[in-house]
Amino acid sequence: MKNPLSIGLTCFLIVFNTINAQTPIEKKADSLLSVMNIEAKIGQMSQIDLGVLCKGKICELQDPLALDTAKLRLAFSKYKVGSVLNCGCGFHALARERWISIIDSIQQANRLFAGHDIPVLYGIDAIHGANYTIGATLFPQQIGQAATWNPDLVKAAAKITAYETRASGIPWNFSPVLDLARQPLWSRFFETYGEDVYLATRMTTACIEGYQGEKIGELQVAACMKHFLGYSYPLSGKDRTPAWIGDRELRAYFLPTFQEAIRLKAKTVMINSGEINGTPVHANPKILTGLLRDELGFDGVAVTDWEDIYKLHTLHRVAPSLRDAVKMAVMAGIDMSMTPNDFQFNELLLNLVKSGEVPESRIDVSVKRILKLKLELGIEKWDADYVRNYYPIFASPDFASVATATVSESLTLLKNELRNTTSDEAVLPLKQQDKVLVFGNAANSIKMLNGAWSQTWLGQDERYVDSTKPTILSALKFLATDKIIFANAADPKSCRRALKSKPSVAILCLGETPATEIPGNINQLELPVDENTRNLAKQLKAMNVPVVLVLCLGRPRIITEWAEAASAVLHTYLPGHEAAPVIASVLYGNINPSGKLPFTYPRYCGDIVHYDHKRTEDNDVNFGDKGYNPLYDFGFGLSYTRFQYSDLQVKAAKDTFFISVMVKNTGSRAGKEVVQVYYRDEYAAVTPSVKKLCGFMKIYATAGETKRVRFAIPAMQLGDIGADLKPFRAEGELKFFIGTETKQIQYNP
Ligand code: BGC
Repeated sequence: MKNPLSIGLTCFLIVFNTINAQTPIEKKADSLLSVMNIEAKIGQMSQIDLGVLCKGKICELQDPLALDTAKLRLAFSKYKVGSVLNCGCGFHALARERWISIIDSIQQANRLFAGHDIPVLYGIDAIHGANYTIGATLFPQQIGQAATWNPDLVKAAAKITAYETRASGIPWNFSPVLDLARQPLWSRFFETYGEDVYLATRMTTACIEGYQGEKIGELQVAACMKHFLGYSYPLSGKDRTPAWIGDRELRAYFLPTFQEAIRLKAKTVMINSGEINGTPVHANPKILTGLLRDELGFDGVAVTDWEDIYKLHTLHRVAPSLRDAVKMAVMAGIDMSMTPNDFQFNELLLNLVKSGEVPESRIDVSVKRILKLKLELGIEKWDADYVRNYYPIFASPDFASVATATVSESLTLLKNELRNTTSDEAVLPLKQQDKVLVFGNAANSIKMLNGAWSQTWLGQDERYVDSTKPTILSALKFLATDKIIFANAADPKSCRRALKSKPSVAILCLGETPATEIPGNINQLELPVDENTRNLAKQLKAMNVPVVLVLCLGRPRIITEWAEAASAVLHTYLPGHEAAPVIASVLYGNINPSGKLPFTYPRYCGDIVHYDHKRTEDNDVNFGDKGYNPLYDFGFGLSYTRFQYSDLQVKAAKDTFFISVMVKNTGSRAGKEVVQVYYRDEYAAVTPSVKKLCGFMKIYATAGETKRVRFAIPAMQLGDIGADLKPFRAEGELKFFIGTETKQIQYNP
């Protein structure tokens, strides 16, 4: 069936199919654009949720999902929608084959109804693996990946995620989150690479390289840097609420990860749903055009976040009508509207162009970027059977082993004390003969290991959890069958039975109900723990049973009383459903933990201070300098072996600091250590931090082995953003710190 739309579109079809393959993409995009009419152009700028094309009501879809022909016709014939996302209000994961057939039907409907051959661009949130494809490999959430301090693993995970997303027929991933986690209350803390600019930037490099490779082909996806800019620092901690961030701080803390991704030619960016200093970012030309395009030179596609153009009117109230909202966002610089549930954007933008309020030349700029992206992704070659056959190692054991390696290097041992006053052995590793009582809300739960963006948006619905995966409890039982006893704290009988067994150790697994975005908002940072669990913990204490606390948390909920009462603490973050056997192996000592905290763990709710704080934040109530008092410091993590540092050497050349240190494994087993280089600029025009990370390397050393670890750190990396918003270098008196070693130098290049 042909839409009467136009001769223009027919020509367009011919042009799209006959363009010489040798012609650069730029040229192809131009010739496509030259034959498009305005409706078709605006269609390219709109993105709808899959739910809009399915049977049932928005967010109350028929299950199993089924495409609705009338809705397909409306979307592609009338509105010529260019992009579709996700799985219907974050409904639930689909089998790979189902994805391929749904996308195939969408591409066919588009070809049939739209009267042109420009394929639909499908985008999805594959946040920690292809989490909306059943059976795909699930990795730790970004915060856990950061805790590995191993960019190679992050890159490998991104590569596999790209493969499995492509294997599902999808070429565009709304990942990574490049926001900096400096606000522990924020519900999306776990989606970030933590609080530190340098660590997050290194992980950004790894992730973008993993997703996009050197050149995007059939095994790569277009990355999407999220959420530009300043999304992670809402003043109240609640998602999508106002951020108050000065321009200097914006550049010093929140911009560098994006700068790095842009340097690596990340293809797309998603905009911050919130406001900064009173201006919603979707309506801010200074950020979306001045900074992003003119200054940083980003020439990819900028997509809005969910419904965020309408929200300029309905929620932020800077636009008196939806029409004004569309005009504001388009003129500010967005390319594509994640509308996502109707077609008002298309109607209103058409009206604005016809009235001359939005020049067609402005539309052309965005459409060209979108066409270029589609061409770069090669999606005009869409062939369902090809996709079915081209990805034979989808969900392969090799992929799973990268996930378990990532979990293994992320698990962070925060405390490990002696079993009791008479023992000279630490509580961990557990001994094979230990009788182990296991309890707590995360002990027998897969969803608490996963967090949100796992089969469903919030990761809460048990129906979609992969119940073939082990929980911490079942993984422990696998290693020590008859020694593990589970106590359901809510059931007095179960507790009595468990206590009667005279446990030698108890493992308390505490987690947080999975959530993200607004549903993940909290009104207290302290981790709520139910009364029954508290009572059981008290009884164990009375019996002198040492407790190992295992945390499954995506943000640093305050756990001080639990950590102090425990003999050992193991942080697992949100490690994903492959994690339980690895956790059990760490507890039993088959794996030596090597994760380090990618954020500062606060001791008190009212004491949120980052490791790279200013001197004034060291002040305590007695006017001393003990004001900085976190529960665990950034970069902290124990091992079953010990590492000793000595002989720190620093040589300053003109543009590089050559730094080296001796590291010795003084314990009795092999292990990995993250050698971390910090510096302090003693005096600077902008108040300097007490220390800042500027280098790290994860090393492996066998028992007794000594290594010299060397770093070459570019001098321009040390410094800050001045009051004039320009970067300046650290100079004069500089101090370097690695482990227990420090070195002061005078640097006057
Ligand atoms: C989130 C984005 C996500 C988008 C599409 C939004 O609500 O903020 O991070 O990519 O939905 O699911």
